[in-house]
Amino acid sequence: MPNEPYLDASVRWKIQTGAIDLQEPRYHGVAESIRSNNLATEVVRQVGAGKEADVYYCLDGRRPIAVKVYRMYRTSHRGGRPVKSDVMGHHACDEFDMLTFAYRGELPVPRPIRRVENMFSMEFLGGPEGPAPQLLRVRLDRPEEHARRLLRAVEEMAMSGVVHTDLSAYNILVWNGRSYFIDLAAALRVDRLGSSPWMRVTEAKQHLQRGLRSLGGYFRRYGVDWPMDEAVERMVSYLDRWGVME
Ligand SMILES: Nc1ncnc2c1ncn2[C@@H]1O[C@H](COP(=O)(O)OP(=O)(O)OP(=O)(O)O)[C@@H](O)[C@H]1O
Ligand SMILES: [Mg+2]
Repeated sequence: MPNEPYLDASVRWKIQTGAIDLQEPRYHGVAESIRSNNLATEVVRQVGAGKEADVYYCLDGRRPIAVKVYRMYRTSHRGGRPVKSDVMGHHACDEFDMLTFAYRGELPVPRPIRRVENMFSMEFLGGPEGPAPQLLRVRLDRPEEHARRLLRAVEEMAMSGVVHTDLSAYNILVWNGRSYFIDLAAALRVDRLGSSPWMRVTEAKQHLQRGLRSLGGYFRRYGVDWPMDEAVERMVSYLDRWGVME
């Protein structure tokens, strides 16, 4: 959905005169919204704060869950105006759908549970002491084996039609010895083509190269061999079932 026009003139006027408040709901407001939309019965604490969303550790009855809440208004660092709230609802939809698609494909992602407007719930990776650590913060016992499994998981994900566009050691959580991909908001679906196959596969290839290069940098500290070029070639030739990249 386009972000223009972002607000109609009467709303802009109300903001300028202070007739309506464009403040982001604070912790208690968000917690109330999570509970009243039946995403969770209790909000325990905030565990993540990113550019566009916050993540909360919650309980639904006794079951621990994570709720990701896209902020209603994202303020631009370049100045200017707040971004229309509908767009944040769309991000939540996109991420929830992508997570569902990946989970059904038996890929290592947290199990999605429910989405309401700009927020969604999913399996909480971690324990009562806190969320599972990001790959970046983990000291791996068997780095080679971990790297091999991770590369395999990226390949399986691509081959099932999902390409993570923000792959890095920050967006992988390690729990019970396994790596889970998170933050799939901007993932690409490459099995169904909206644009020209060449454009879509080229875009997928660039994201795979960038993501694998970033993970390769992480594994270099362990001195692990990371055969990313072969992996990218394999994935691209699999994704290119139309033969447009030959
Ligand atoms: N399912 C989950 N279980 C446990 N913790 C989670 C889960 N999902 C996210 N988190 C925690 O929240 C943090 C942020 O999550 P995520 O990467 O999805 O959003 P983000 O980085 O805030 O978004 P953005 O990329 O827009 O800045 C993670 O690093 C992790 O600590
Ligand atoms: Mg992230």
